[in-house]
Amino acid sequence: MLLRVIIATDDVNLRKRLRELLANPDIVLEAVRGKHLLWERAARKGADVILASESVVPDPVASSLELVKNLPESTVVAVISDSEDPLHHARLLGAGFDMVLHAGLPEKELVAALEAVLSKRQDAAIESFSDQQPLAQPQFSDFVSESPAMQEFMRVVHRIVNSDTSLLILGETGVGKERLARAIHAEGPRSDGPFVPVNCGALAESLLESELFGHEEGSFTGATRCRRGCFEIAHGGTIFLDEIGEMPTHLQVKLLRVLQDHEIQRVGGEKGLAVDVRVIAASNRNLHDEVESGRFRRDLYYRLGVVSLEVPPLRQRYQDIPALTHGYIDYFRSRIGHDIRGIEPDAMAAFHEYAWPGNVRELMNVVERAILLCDGKSITINDLPLGIAGGTDLGWLSAGAFHDREMAIPQELLAKPLKQFRGEIIQNVEVAYLTALLRKTNGRIGKTAELAGIESRSLYEKMKKYGLRKEDFRGKRTSESTSEGMHGTVDPGETIPE
Ligand SMILES: Nc1ncnc2c1ncn2[C@@H]1O[C@H](COP(=O)(O)OP(=O)(O)OP(=O)(O)O)[C@@H](O)[C@H]1O
Ligand SMILES: [Mg+2]
Repeated sequence: MLLRVIIATDDVNLRKRLRELLANPDIVLEAVRGKHLLWERAARKGADVILASESVVPDPVASSLELVKNLPESTVVAVISDSEDPLHHARLLGAGFDMVLHAGLPEKELVAALEAVLSKRQDAAIESFSDQQPLAQPQFSDFVSESPAMQEFMRVVHRIVNSDTSLLILGETGVGKERLARAIHAEGPRSDGPFVPVNCGALAESLLESELFGHEEGSFTGATRCRRGCFEIAHGGTIFLDEIGEMPTHLQVKLLRVLQDHEIQRVGGEKGLAVDVRVIAASNRNLHDEVESGRFRRDLYYRLGVVSLEVPPLRQRYQDIPALTHGYIDYFRSRIGHDIRGIEPDAMAAFHEYAWPGNVRELMNVVERAILLCDGKSITINDLPLGIAGGTDLGWLSAGAFHDREMAIPQELLAKPLKQFRGEIIQNVEVAYLTALLRKTNGRIGKTAELAGIESRSLYEKMKKYGLRKEDFRGKRTSESTSEGMHGTVDPGETIPE
């Protein structure tokens, strides 16, 4: 992270000396004089570290310290005292200063003390940031690579991990683009620095700009204090720009400038701030088409995609399905608390037959759902959604099929008692019917209920029972939304169909 340090002293020589010692690309320095300016400055501008001469700290010390301690930056405050008296130092520490430095310290000791203060703050920043991140960062060894497609892909990934160029990760939804970006960061030379993800599609245009580059106080209505942007936070590490295809054009221009000059400018700011950040961008759109249609800047596309990685979809890496499935069975076994040990061969065969439009994420959801539904020790074909179990072709149930009463009933259904057969057929037909209607109405409950000739409340109950969610049928109809509509996870507390 880029650290903001305020030096507050009326002593010209000390100020000059500290400025020299702290001249460092990881630090933005600011010097202030006088008692009142210091706290006002810190409160408005924000500071990670304050180095203040004792003489500029306003009385009463404890309450003026509390003011900065309550700032969102968790400011570390070191006081520089002229006194050598250990008792006095103890009193200053007692008042709440994080460190007491003696003004007359020799160069070497002063440097060591300053380094300790800065690294204390840097560690705290990385720690608080890591609290919001998934616990274990993925490693390359976690990427199942039994398939030739994935082996070849990981060979390329290994070759680029130590370079510091920007990267573009492409691939369908759910293939693991973010997971790969995290692994590249964790395995590369920047692993000690932060990994900062930003979803460019999730924020309004004005908010996205401030999120990325930060803003100065007063730069827009409501900007009462300065705010650090994600590029500053990612200094020394990696910024992950997810859904880069959604970035508005004027921000694409700004991003291109950052990539070229390694400098950002806060919204409403005048000075450039030098940042050292590796950029990894991802998109599940075909960015090349976006460039051709003028929605994405060509220069940025080439700049970002110095190295471009296309993660193979699951349907091109079938050999990886068994290991991925068993990995998820182990993972959900303990989380859900069902002692499932494996998967029946016919269920695994169905996994191999299926096209997996939602990729690894869909496989994960399907395994989780199957474990919830499963009564025995291993997942059977009956625990899988209709589309995967092979029951989507309902043609054999059409009216014409009943004419000679000799319809071809699949063997696995014929093996079941009549009651179970009837229950499953009705349930499967109902799920397929409601899914098709919801898709037709874009998830509109009232319209769907009207077409189905049932009450909205009764439609809701059925959707809940079958794990269908209206959100999955809304908006863009990507392959993910269609697939997850069928395979939405069932909450443990819900009624699960028999
Ligand atoms: N190789 C893998 N092994 C295990 N889990 C994986 C693998 N790849 C992806 N996953 C899991 O699949 C889910 C989706 O991965 P991720 O979010 O990285 O996909 P994505 O490509 O960024 O998807 P989207 O385009 O929808 O944002 C995550 O829960 C991730 O942990
Ligand atoms: Mg993603």
